[in-house]
Amino acid sequence: MLQDRRILLIIGGGIAAYKALELARLLRRRGASVRAILTKAGEQFVTPLAVAGLTGDKVYGDLFSLTDEAEMGHIQLSRAADLVVVAPATADLIAKMANGLANDLASTALLATDKRILIAPAMNVRMWNHAATRRNMATLVGDGVAVVGPREGSMACGEWGPGRLAEPEDILAAIDALLEPGEGPLKGRHVLVTSGPTHEPIDPVRYIANRSSGKQGHAIARAAAAAGARVTLVSGPVEIADPAGVHVVRVQTAREMMAAVETALPADVGVFAAAVADWRVDAPAGQKIKKGSGGAPALLFAENPDILASVARSPLRPRLLVGFAAETENVVAHAQAKLQRKGCDWIVANDVSPGSGVMGGDHNSVHLVTANAVRDWQRMPKDEVANALVNEIAAALSAEPRP
Ligand code: C5P
Repeated sequence: MLQDRRILLIIGGGIAAYKALELARLLRRRGASVRAILTKAGEQFVTPLAVAGLTGDKVYGDLFSLTDEAEMGHIQLSRAADLVVVAPATADLIAKMANGLANDLASTALLATDKRILIAPAMNVRMWNHAATRRNMATLVGDGVAVVGPREGSMACGEWGPGRLAEPEDILAAIDALLEPGEGPLKGRHVLVTSGPTHEPIDPVRYIANRSSGKQGHAIARAAAAAGARVTLVSGPVEIADPAGVHVVRVQTAREMMAAVETALPADVGVFAAAVADWRVDAPAGQKIKKGSGGAPALLFAENPDILASVARSPLRPRLLVGFAAETENVVAHAQAKLQRKGCDWIVANDVSPGSGVMGGDHNSVHLVTANAVRDWQRMPKDEVANALVNEIAAALSAEPRP
């Protein structure tokens, strides 16, 4: 419930602005009050009348309107809210926020607020991937701004990729996680998630690693937090943002990941989605290995600890332990064998064969393999896989008594 919570909704200019209306409707249905600022560009896509109709309030738009300032100044407007939500957050609004510009009511309110800000970016894929937007997003995340989306998919401009506004339900879930932390079916539970690759040094400048973006593991951590869990995310090196409301421990190597996981235990649930390197270089060179007449160096490998298998045998084993299996063939059969070998309760098996587009992409097609069943889930975005998995986890835990 968001009863009596006050949301300041800033609607930027973009084809997705109409979804902000649906968001306003959902928020009000949940008991929140919504006050909207519509930017000049936003007005090109939705009318102030439609916004006012759905928020049930006056719509703010002009910084220099004397009547607005007399009724409620821009400072007060930005502070009277419990949370500021920017949806859609355009490249322009994001750039203004990252640089502290304040030349209209939306950017002024964003600079003047003392409340948390959640942005839901939406823009053309090339704009999203542009170095300037990457820089601005990194700045905002560093400033503590929470982010939801964007999603991957086909765009109004005919291109395909990340840049679509998150669905209103997902924005609502992110608002819930920020305003009502600890509420939800996993309330009172500790969920430990591993994510990303590990980097195993060869020398101070080179390493070996697995391909992993961390998107699936991070999405699971985010979904578990949204479901009310206390979440520890042990992450290898990734280039994506930390999920909001999650305790993140950053590591480089498998052995560091093992130590961080041991420190984080006990936990009710462990979801190990990291792509841990199976081997490390036995004796990494202290200095950069130089090319020379001796030819290519030979590397001697040592086996890394299997974190999942070792936690499965630990006295502090979580009651529910979920592993991942990335396979390129015989996906389910290999996952069933892995479940036995590792001693975990479930395996989320995904097909990462070269044509699948799973590696680094935003979609996943998985099978949930348990001791006595296999469930095939349809191909869906990684954050939906995360939500579905968290729902299964919540159902499994509620079926057994709390200790
Ligand atoms: O053996 P494989 O790497 O395919 O197993 C995958 C599962 O085991 C994943 O859940 C992964 O996070 C976990 N794992 C681990 N430590 C390792 C290797 C894999 O926790 N050293």
